[in-house]
Amino acid sequence: MPADKQKKYNNPVSATLTGIADLFRKFEPAGELKASDRLDGKTVLVDGASSGLGFAVAAGLARRGAKVIMACRSGIPAKGEEVKRLSGNPDVHMLLVDFADISSIRELVVNIRSDSFFNGENGSGIDILVCNAGIVPKQSRKTPQGLEEMFMVNYFSKFIFVNLLLENNCFTGRAGAITRIIFVASESHRNPEKFEWDDFGKYREYRIGKSIELYGYYKLLLTTFAVELSRRLNIAGKSRISVFALCPGPVNSNIAREAPKLFQPLLSVVFGIFFKSPAKAAVPVEYLAASADVEGKPFDYLFLMSRKAVDEKAAEPANGALLWKLSEELLKSLQIV
Ligand SMILES: NC(=O)c1ccc[n+]([C@@H]2O[C@H](COP(=O)([O-])OP(=O)(O)OC[C@H]3O[C@@H](n4cnc5c(N)ncnc54)[C@H](OP(=O)(O)O)[C@@H]3O)[C@@H](O)[C@H]2O)c1
Repeated sequence: MPADKQKKYNNPVSATLTGIADLFRKFEPAGELKASDRLDGKTVLVDGASSGLGFAVAAGLARRGAKVIMACRSGIPAKGEEVKRLSGNPDVHMLLVDFADISSIRELVVNIRSDSFFNGENGSGIDILVCNAGIVPKQSRKTPQGLEEMFMVNYFSKFIFVNLLLENNCFTGRAGAITRIIFVASESHRNPEKFEWDDFGKYREYRIGKSIELYGYYKLLLTTFAVELSRRLNIAGKSRISVFALCPGPVNSNIAREAPKLFQPLLSVVFGIFFKSPAKAAVPVEYLAASADVEGKPFDYLFLMSRKAVDEKAAEPANGALLWKLSEELLKSLQIV
């Protein structure tokens, strides 16, 4: 692997500098988000919407007329009220979820099915899902099921959640409508040299120094899952559900909340000056959610507003198939009743 690629996202300093440098590079735009890209009559679920990018996406999509469900572990009901006020759209709802806990994800799906915004199998379900929640923890922590928290929140919860939504017919039943599933990934998915299949899902101890490197690895798992999901949902060129992924670039959010206290003042200055506001960073997510340009596409990946190929490891069908198999086996082994 070339040395420059290897070093890009391996520690907090190089990851921050790479993010800043990217903001100054010129990229060919994939398209343009227009005021006419409306979502009236559509239902959107955004998770991790209590803060940063997810909150801005929820507000932006509510402004475009969507019914918005914010699936969050905090900020209920205050953040939903704020989205209503900022967007002028009263059709905003909040549901509780902790993506570190599989039982909580299951409860969320039960609530989605039974809530009044879900009108049953022949009515409308979720038209657009934005899987956004993510963390950069200062150290490893065990989830209630004994998994590693960043592995769970940044990758495995998405595998479980999306599959539960599919199994429970939670996506729209509207004729002719193509559902969109959008994953907030990261360019850092290109950083890992290889998959570590033998250690898949195993709890491992680490501290902040290793956190950024593992973050990139879990974003690689997420991106590989996104490509494989698209492959499975869109057979023989027939688009059933579009699967999109993106990197929003560096966002002035709360993502570094667990960084050492000593660095917090410096980070907040750097983030404030160089990183994008959540509202600006939300534009590619809103584009993938609302633009007619991408209607019916089985897969797309954006970095900022430019179209890119995902890393070749994520695109490789054998990797996608193995990730899916290992994820299913891991879930089965947890024997959750
Ligand atoms: N910031 C960047 O520079 C950057 C760059 C590339 C990609 N991203 C990605 O963008 C996404 C959003 O992050 P952000 O930058 O907006 O950070 P953020 O402000 O920290 O927001 C993260 C969101 O995820 C939620 N979350 C974390 N753990 C959760 C759990 N166990 N269950 C449910 N929700 C949980 C948080 O909820 P609480 O508020 O309750 O903690 C919060 O709403 C992440 O996937 C991140 O990896 C960020």
